[in-house]
Amino acid sequence: MDVFEQLDREYPSQTHKLDKFKELFDPLVPGDFAEFGVYNGNGARELASLDPSRTCWAFDTFEGMPQEDYSGDEDSSDPPGKWKPSAEPEALFHGIPNITAIKGRFVDTLGLVNDEVHFSLVHVDCDWYWSHRQVLEFLESHLNHGAKIVFDDWTLAGAKRAIQEWRDRVGPKVKGEGEVLVWVG
Ligand SMILES: C[S@@+](CC[C@H](N)C(=O)[O-])C[C@H]1O[C@@H](n2cnc3c(N)ncnc32)[C@H](O)[C@@H]1O
Repeated sequence: MDVFEQLDREYPSQTHKLDKFKELFDPLVPGDFAEFGVYNGNGARELASLDPSRTCWAFDTFEGMPQEDYSGDEDSSDPPGKWKPSAEPEALFHGIPNITAIKGRFVDTLGLVNDEVHFSLVHVDCDWYWSHRQVLEFLESHLNHGAKIVFDDWTLAGAKRAIQEWRDRVGPKVKGEGEVLVWVG
């Protein structure tokens, strides 16, 4: 059993998208990977496995959904406190050197990321309106041309509104519909 299988068994989680990530990963688009909303880490581990020479950034409170970013009805499919992981990030990613975990609310952590960090493939899986809004605003200056954004929650009311508002603002810099968008800005 390799380290990925071992961690998936020890810390089972929601995301099972390795086939999708493999299909979307274009080695010709430079840049790191990122997951926004990590829980027990399966999605971040899957992204990291695509190319060990690229860093996978894993952003989460690692303490569950943060009350401060909850906007009520449109986010009610996931209540505050849900998705508290079974272990600290050091354990979730033990033995996978190309994952960098950034612990805290997005609003407190995203601004600390160096301007030079750019992504090629990202997974956005953070359920709520404000969480999506913060992530998408951050991504605007951190995506390489041709980068793909995979949304887990594009059908949930809050997430859907944040994505639509962002699309209205960035216009032709983004192509695609639904679950996968491509940054061409
Ligand atoms: C559905 S879970 C993610 C599942 C994960 N992608 C997997 O592979 O199983 C949603 C995650 O988003 C995180 N999250 C949501 N809003 C956040 C915010 N504003 N700041 C930091 N983390 C947030 C929660 O802590 C939670 O772990």
